[in-house]
Amino acid sequence: MSQDALIGQDLAESEGWPETRRNREEQFHALADLLPELCWMARADGHIFWYNQTWYDYTGTTPEQMSGWGWQTVHDPDILPSVMEQWQASLQSGRPFEKEFPLRGADGVFRWFLTRVRPVCNREGRIVQWFGTNANIDEHVRMRQSLLEAQQALETRVQERTAELNAANRSLRQLSARLLQLRDEEQRRLARELHDSVGQMLAAIKMNIAVEQASRLDPDALRAVTDNARLVDEVSSEIRTISHLLHPPLLDEVGLSSALQCYVEGFSERSKVAVTLDIAADLARLDHEMEISIFRIVQESLTNVHRHSESRDAIVRIAHEDGQIEVEIRDTGKGIPPEIQKALGSAGSLGVGFGGMRERLAQLGGQLEIRSNPGCTSVIGKFPVRRVETAAEALA
Ligand SMILES: Nc1ncnc2c1ncn2[C@@H]1O[C@H](COP(=O)(O)OP(=O)(O)OP(=O)(O)O)[C@@H](O)[C@H]1O
Ligand SMILES: [Mg+2]
Repeated sequence: MSQDALIGQDLAESEGWPETRRNREEQFHALADLLPELCWMARADGHIFWYNQTWYDYTGTTPEQMSGWGWQTVHDPDILPSVMEQWQASLQSGRPFEKEFPLRGADGVFRWFLTRVRPVCNREGRIVQWFGTNANIDEHVRMRQSLLEAQQALETRVQERTAELNAANRSLRQLSARLLQLRDEEQRRLARELHDSVGQMLAAIKMNIAVEQASRLDPDALRAVTDNARLVDEVSSEIRTISHLLHPPLLDEVGLSSALQCYVEGFSERSKVAVTLDIAADLARLDHEMEISIFRIVQESLTNVHRHSESRDAIVRIAHEDGQIEVEIRDTGKGIPPEIQKALGSAGSLGVGFGGMRERLAQLGGQLEIRSNPGCTSVIGKFPVRRVETAAEALA
């Protein structure tokens, strides 16, 4: 006799309950009725022949209604087919069954249960019975469902906010592109205005002064007129410089290479920084936005070299490789101080200069790289090329 059986016998006998098969069954049923789980036993073929009282109390059914396969009436008809399929598979394979599904209570409400079924084998290893329990996990399942719903709602909200943020970023990008474009257009208009209107008036004043100089004037008046002639020359030259800075005069007409050549010569003369221009020989005309962006990047970087680097020379390199344009402005100056480099990396920009370059390059689908050490600073802009069709290509 096993240890468990001996203990059972002791307990039964201690309470004056002789150890018989019938008494053991009654003890078992009394214990099973106390359990909060719904319990049942089935034959090897799945026919259920016993339920504990908890089952009848929960479902409000009778043993007659439940006998055999009557349990199907307390199942959700939508879920029952999948339960049947899995239960039949277990009956055939002899493997344990485990599944979550709802069962209808006496009050007509479906609640979720975790059902576990294990086979019981005889000495030869043949299945003779199945023991099943259904544990009420309704609260747990509902909590899990509301958590899932909350998580999904959160995810949807995050997606909506991300979409809103992306849209806001897009319109900000469009706005800043428009602002850059407007600034370029306004500068071009101002440059033309200064050149064509103020420049012409100054030329007329210069002619009038020449007439005055030719007439007979007393020495003081002549000195004043001559002084005026010099001042008009200076104003003319200043206005020409300003209008050239506002808008590269040759960019539209003769293209980037010539306009840069002209600008760099003027810059070297004014700043005393010797600039070498190295432009890819096969660089064709690019679209206007690209040409003006390259020009502005070179212009801003050379101004930075002059203002901040103390370098005596600089190289401007424009290369064209694998459908990508690379613009590099390199100097041999003192380098960008580390704290400024750090700020440029995290905040994106300090002055308008690098910020504007970054913005222009982003509009072109490119990016800016800054490499700087004492003795060498290199500002590199890269972007994919978009070439303008020549008249012949357009016709082809
Ligand atoms: N070639 C360079 N050599 C050394 N330091 C540089 C160089 N270029 C830029 N810097 C440093 O980086 C800083 C940021 O440059 P950025 O062009 O953005 O602004 P800025 O020139 O100061 O002002 P802004 O261009 O708005 O008039 C400069 O203030 C300077 O300290
Ligand atoms: Mg600057």
